Amino acid sequence: MENQKKLIHTFGALAELGNEVAHKQNFQEMMRTSLHLLLGSLAIMRGGVARYSRYAHELNMIVMRGLGEEFPLSLSLCYEDERQFLTNGLFPIEVSQAKVLPFFQIYDHSFENRKLELLVPLIVRDEIVGVVLLGEKANGEPYNSYDKEIICAMAQHIGVGISQRNLMAELERRAEENRKLYDDLRMTYKDTVKAFAAAIDYKDKYTEGHSVRVGKYSEIIAEELGWDENEVEGAAVAGYLHDVGKLTVERNIINAPYRINAKESAELNKHPSVGYEILLPIHHPYTDVPLAAKYHHERLDGRGYPDGLIDKEIPYIAKIVNLADSFDAMTTDRPYKRRRVANEVIEDLQRNAGKQFAPELVTAFCRGMLKELTGEAKERRFRKLLGREYMEAEGIVPLLKNALNGINSSSPLTLTSLD
Ligand SMILES: [Fe+2]
Ligand SMILES: [Fe+2]
Repeated sequence: MENQKKLIHTFGALAELGNEVAHKQNFQEMMRTSLHLLLGSLAIMRGGVARYSRYAHELNMIVMRGLGEEFPLSLSLCYEDERQFLTNGLFPIEVSQAKVLPFFQIYDHSFENRKLELLVPLIVRDEIVGVVLLGEKANGEPYNSYDKEIICAMAQHIGVGISQRNLMAELERRAEENRKLYDDLRMTYKDTVKAFAAAIDYKDKYTEGHSVRVGKYSEIIAEELGWDENEVEGAAVAGYLHDVGKLTVERNIINAPYRINAKESAELNKHPSVGYEILLPIHHPYTDVPLAAKYHHERLDGRGYPDGLIDKEIPYIAKIVNLADSFDAMTTDRPYKRRRVANEVIEDLQRNAGKQFAPELVTAFCRGMLKELTGEAKERRFRKLLGREYMEAEGIVPLLKNALNGINSSSPLTLTSLD
């Protein structure tokens, strides 16, 4: 009857321990409860659980009960001890009979002091993950084989708990490493993109900084559209690289201080397709980058080039870059024409919404500009790119507000086709 009770009690403790190991999120707490259950189920006076660090070759105490403050928190293990523990497997070692091992010689004093009788190496998948240390039983009797079996079963659960924790830590470390690698790669990619943009702009002496500005305007538009961080970055990259095809166009055509003739114009107009060919084989984190290069001179009304696409046929990213590109062309001096004043440019955007530009993009762009002028946006990006005076032109705020009200947010071309 007594034995049966003991058995039921032990099974209960085992079940609880299994549950503990499987569900507890907090490792420390899980170990504390496990040790408590183990000591409680056999009425053991004191004990502790240590986790093994195979890099430092030491056992670090995770939880202790009744071992006192003097007990070492870290116990080193030499090769001979490790080998012996592995050979022994997950089974209690009688401290009194293992004195030949260096480990027990070094810590003999501490073990004797706290009356530690058993040490159970926690072996999981042929590796030591820790040990369980156990003191004497409350009734003073020696451990019998039945006790040892229970100890083994419970120690196995504890070992699995530690092993799981180790795996998690390893996984987290690798994830962190990957994250760092990924961040480094992204930085390299961004730097390369900027270097490319600088190379493109270097060739075109009259429109210095054009690619960089188009990148920044595209970024503002994407932000105003509510895109997430990665998508905004994708839009910026598309802007930075949109004219990459110009690298193959002759320098004197790009830099011609007059309106170029038809032949030269045909040569220049190849740059979107060439840009696409250059960008396509590169593995971009954003798949639309080559498309932005190819179609950034298309117009909603089909009067653009190279393919004369209409509205929805044009990739969205290309519509963004087109607006950013045109805005920069209007707001910078060209060899044969001075830049246009801000008010005129805004009117132009408004007038061409639905013809050249996607209306909702003009709205987004104007909203971005207005936010900066009213102080709602902290960054002064337009001011940096266009100059303070330019942005403080009289009447620009009401004009922007008017533009925001006046633009139908969907394209008239689309509306016609729906009727
Ligand atoms: Fe272009
Ligand atoms: Fe451009």
